[in-house]
Amino acid sequence: MTPDINSPDYWHDSYLNGRIPWDLGFPTPTFARLAASGQYPPGQMIVPGAGRGYDARLFAQHGFDVLAVDFAPDAVAAMQSLNSTTHPVQILQADIFELPETMNGRFDYLLEYTCFCAIDPARRNEYAALAARLLKPGGLYIGLAFPIGRRPGGPPFVVQPDGVVELLAEHGFSLQHREFPPDSVPSRQKIEELLIMQR
Ligand SMILES: C[S@@+](CC[C@H](N)C(=O)[O-])C[C@H]1O[C@@H](n2cnc3c(N)ncnc32)[C@H](O)[C@@H]1O
Repeated sequence: MTPDINSPDYWHDSYLNGRIPWDLGFPTPTFARLAASGQYPPGQMIVPGAGRGYDARLFAQHGFDVLAVDFAPDAVAAMQSLNSTTHPVQILQADIFELPETMNGRFDYLLEYTCFCAIDPARRNEYAALAARLLKPGGLYIGLAFPIGRRPGGPPFVVQPDGVVELLAEHGFSLQHREFPPDSVPSRQKIEELLIMQR
């Protein structure tokens, strides 16, 4: 039977069975550099498909007001147990595609890492529309496009950074910055690209 990647059960089982190759176990070094750079003033940030929340907690520690969203109960439980008492992340167990309209325009930042490649590729336009509606005008999409490549199937479903730039442009975003990060973890060097786009 084909697993239903649109269902939290698929992801919950992956966490329970320890099949989580995406989980670095620490904050993404590129995001750590951005958070510490002072170039991005703290504001409201949403992290869709946050997993165990390493990146969400990183930005919270830097003073960002972070909402981490995931629909897998085991990921949410991990985020709850790892949450900081001094710089807590707000945690929401929900399907990102069902986030309420009351959240529209609330966020200064959307942080994307390995959620875009986890969803059904047929839903990528829906994801871009979601990013557009959640961000304030002028808000930033900060994402690592990963994994770049050509293999069939998924998850993870391969990502072409130019395709992401084009898709977000169709939803009103403009490219501010792109780079192959020098600080990608060794196994992800050159197969991920940082894209920063402004709504
Ligand atoms: C590949 S994992 C990445 C987790 C995290 N971003 C990281 O880098 O460790 C994808 C995550 O997205 C979550 N996810 C997938 N589809 C989702 C959806 N429609 N709504 C909420 N969470 C979703 C999964 O439960 C999983 O935790």
